[in-house]
Amino acid sequence: MATTQAPPGAQEFIPADARSLAELKQAAPGCRGCELYEDATQVVFGRGAEHARLVLVGEQPGDIEDQQGLPFVGPAGRLLRDAVDEAGIDPSIIYLTNTVKHFRFELRGRRRIHQTPGPAHITACRPWLVAEFALLKPDLVVALGATAAKALFGPSFRVTRSRGELLPWPAAAQRPQDFPGAESRALATIHPSAVLRADDRDAAFRGLVDDLKVAATVLV
Ligand code: URA
Ligand code: SF4
Repeated sequence: MATTQAPPGAQEFIPADARSLAELKQAAPGCRGCELYEDATQVVFGRGAEHARLVLVGEQPGDIEDQQGLPFVGPAGRLLRDAVDEAGIDPSIIYLTNTVKHFRFELRGRRRIHQTPGPAHITACRPWLVAEFALLKPDLVVALGATAAKALFGPSFRVTRSRGELLPWPAAAQRPQDFPGAESRALATIHPSAVLRADDRDAAFRGLVDDLKVAATVLV
């Protein structure tokens, strides 16, 4: 009988006694929690202040992020920084990370075409995100787009229906071992790449900024 085996997941590659994000980050290149490490250039871990109050969670590194080893350094990242700025959020309180920490792509000729991570990749990589949250204990986590929203709120969550709403910390991550002592809140919005692809970019950008302004109310 043919079975598709679920990947082992990241948990066993995460140092249980990690006391800092730097320690987590150091362990991340050793992750074999799913197959995505095989073709990507390198792992792209989160970055930002150890005491960040706001965590922005993207989907996965893009082509440029994969090459540079840093999240949100390409066009989507530039747009995100503009939106954060317009929303009046101090960038020094932000930690940027991704739901899945290796770039998933398909080779077409010499071009690497972005492929959305699947549910198995989200589940496999989720322990890294949870470990980041556990160390950061942020006031607010913002899911950028459907992949991050599914990782945080579960597979049936719809960004289009619930974007821009301040939500309690999601039940899926509420187990004490997931996030000790959390009184955080969460919010979902669209992904900056969706703004770049939108027919009406200005309207999409304003929508993103409006959602981030809701986020900013938690951070005053
Ligand atoms: N898109 C993401 O979701 N994350 C990045 O780091 C870059 C683009
Ligand atoms: Fe590990 Fe996540 Fe990379 Fe998969 S995508 S190998 S789970 S870090």
